[in-house]
Amino acid sequence: MSATTSQPPYLPFDRPDIGEEEIAAVADVLRSGWLTTGPQTAEFERRFAEYVGVGHALALNSCTAAMQIALAAWDIGPGDEVITSPLTFCSTAHIIVHLGAIPVLADVSPDDYNLNPDCVAQRITPRTRVLLPVHLAGLPCRIGALLMLAHAHGLEVLEDAAHAAGAQVNGQKIGSIGDATAFSFYATKNLTTGEGGMLTSSDGDLIERARTWHLHGMSRDAWKRYTAEGSWRYDVLLPGFKANMTDLQAALGLVQLAKLERNNARRGEIQQRYTAAFSQMPELIPAPRARPGDRQAYHLYILRLNPERLRIDRGRFFQELAGRGIGASVHFIPLYRLSYYQERFNWRPEDFPVTETIFHSAISLPCYPRMSQADVDRVITAVGEIVEAYRA
Ligand SMILES: Cc1ncc(COP(=O)(O)O)c(C=O)c1O
Repeated sequence: MSATTSQPPYLPFDRPDIGEEEIAAVADVLRSGWLTTGPQTAEFERRFAEYVGVGHALALNSCTAAMQIALAAWDIGPGDEVITSPLTFCSTAHIIVHLGAIPVLADVSPDDYNLNPDCVAQRITPRTRVLLPVHLAGLPCRIGALLMLAHAHGLEVLEDAAHAAGAQVNGQKIGSIGDATAFSFYATKNLTTGEGGMLTSSDGDLIERARTWHLHGMSRDAWKRYTAEGSWRYDVLLPGFKANMTDLQAALGLVQLAKLERNNARRGEIQQRYTAAFSQMPELIPAPRARPGDRQAYHLYILRLNPERLRIDRGRFFQELAGRGIGASVHFIPLYRLSYYQERFNWRPEDFPVTETIFHSAISLPCYPRMSQADVDRVITAVGEIVEAYRA
């Protein structure tokens, strides 16, 4: 491995942007004596809905829970089919299986790495109930086309916006577009609460039903039962989940929400520098850009290798980056390549040719607001050195 001489410190793939303000906000909650779901959570829901421009939001302990609860609130169950992207995190499909429903995959488009509406149309059957597109890397999918398709067939659209806090389509924020949208506030995400998520919708009845599902199926405001205004009396209406957000997380989320636009802009600057450098090298395919009028959240920078122009594969490229002290990742190992899904649903890679091509050539590079210009230059230099050394 051709590592450089005096090695600078390891540059991790990701590092959260947590400052004194977040620490103070969490300390205030600790001092308040109210640790779990409470006033901070209610305020975070209100502010997030306002930011997104949608009527209703429910804070949860993960995006996974947000997606599962949306499907439960739509009564999705055995025999129902939900169409999603193979290029996503496993939990996008797990939640479908947990409800006894069937995940169905459609291939993605080469220009945005997101669900191709034509491939989705081919997978719709009389059993299809929901389309579950993902906005991979924070780049908006073709949501307009998917909504038209869904509504023509009487289907719901749940967006997996784990990567897309702050992204927009035609000036409208993601979270205010589909029938329901799920966000992730996991440690690596653009807005983090350590662990956490949010479900948004313009359908107030849906969010009310989701609210019941999210806390043991207890009747509304049961969380207030230990306050002066609360009552010991509650009813249980459903065998609900335990998926509520705590006030510790919400306090963190409120500070992070105030920083989101600035942090996304910084991610965008880093990505522009990457693209300006990598588009000079025919050995590389820079990350896709949003369509005109759309705005991306720049969550990930997915660089692709042009295999015809390089003498090394993606695995070796990774090793070369690691040898230069640079962390990287892959988003994602497609669902049809994971043992459980392969065995259970008999999915075959050859049915998803575009996803396959992307998967074999993709490397996600570090991209987060705390990276300095020197860090960004270091990544560009390292990639350039590797290309130089292994050009075909
Ligand atoms: C595309 C996608 N969907 C869903 C999730 C699940 O999010 P969470 O960890 O908040 O449940 C992730 C998390 O990494 C993700 O990347």
